[in-house]
Amino acid sequence: GDNVMYLAHRYNIEMEGACEASLACSTCHVYVKDEYFNKLPEPDEKEEDMLDMAPFLKENSRLGCQII
Ligand code: FES
Repeated sequence: GDNVMYLAHRYNIEMEGACEASLACSTCHVYVKDEYFNKLPEPDEKEEDMLDMAPFLKENSRLGCQII
Protein backbone atom coordinates (compact mmCIF):
# COMPACT_ATOMS: atom_id res chain seq x y z
CA GLY A 1 0.00 0.00 0.00
CA ASP A 2 0.94 3.61 -0.47
CA ASN A 3 0.83 4.67 3.13
CA VAL A 4 2.86 7.62 4.34
CA MET A 5 5.70 5.45 5.52
CA TYR A 6 6.25 3.81 2.17
CA LEU A 7 5.98 7.14 0.42
CA ALA A 8 8.54 8.59 2.80
CA HIS A 9 10.91 5.75 2.01
CA ARG A 10 10.39 6.23 -1.68
CA TYR A 11 11.53 9.81 -1.33
CA ASN A 12 14.32 8.85 1.03
CA ILE A 13 12.81 10.54 4.03
CA GLU A 14 13.87 8.88 7.21
CA MET A 15 10.91 7.33 8.97
CA GLU A 16 11.16 4.51 11.43
CA GLY A 17 8.62 1.78 11.29
CA ALA A 18 9.82 -0.83 13.70
CA CYS A 19 6.85 -3.14 13.44
CA GLU A 20 6.28 -2.73 9.71
CA ALA A 21 2.80 -1.29 10.00
CA SER A 22 1.39 -3.99 12.24
CA LEU A 23 0.36 -1.49 14.94
CA ALA A 24 2.72 -2.90 17.52
CA CYS A 25 4.87 0.16 18.05
CA SER A 26 4.72 3.92 17.83
CA THR A 27 7.97 4.56 16.00
CA CYS A 28 6.12 5.76 12.94
CA HIS A 29 4.44 8.54 14.95
CA VAL A 30 3.94 11.65 12.84
CA TYR A 31 2.26 15.02 13.15
CA VAL A 32 -0.24 15.74 10.43
CA LYS A 33 -0.83 19.29 9.25
CA ASP A 34 -4.21 20.58 10.38
CA GLU A 35 -5.55 21.02 6.87
CA TYR A 36 -4.94 17.35 6.16
CA PHE A 37 -5.67 15.98 9.58
CA ASN A 38 -9.40 16.58 9.27
CA LYS A 39 -9.49 14.83 5.93
CA LEU A 40 -8.07 11.60 7.25
CA PRO A 41 -10.27 8.74 8.29
CA GLU A 42 -10.51 8.42 12.06
CA PRO A 43 -7.81 6.31 13.68
CA ASP A 44 -9.12 2.93 14.75
CA GLU A 45 -8.96 1.76 18.33
CA LYS A 46 -5.65 -0.05 17.93
CA GLU A 47 -4.04 3.02 16.50
CA GLU A 48 -5.40 5.12 19.36
CA ASP A 49 -3.97 2.68 21.88
CA MET A 50 -0.55 2.84 20.30
CA LEU A 51 -0.70 6.61 20.00
CA ASP A 52 -1.36 6.83 23.72
CA MET A 53 2.09 5.36 24.23
CA ALA A 54 3.84 7.61 21.77
CA PRO A 55 6.10 10.27 23.24
CA PHE A 56 5.18 13.92 22.60
CA LEU A 57 1.62 13.13 21.64
CA LYS A 58 -0.20 16.05 20.09
CA GLU A 59 -3.72 16.79 18.86
CA ASN A 60 -2.62 16.02 15.34
CA SER A 61 -0.62 12.90 16.08
CA ARG A 62 -1.15 9.83 13.93
CA LEU A 63 0.76 6.70 13.19
CA GLY A 64 2.36 7.18 9.83
CA CYS A 65 1.95 3.58 8.76
CA GLN A 66 -1.83 3.81 9.19
CA ILE A 67 -2.37 6.83 7.01
CA ILE A 68 -3.33 5.77 3.54
FE1 FES B 1 4.64 0.17 14.02
FE2 FES B 1 3.44 1.96 12.46
S1 FES B 1 5.30 0.93 12.12
S2 FES B 1 2.72 1.08 14.29
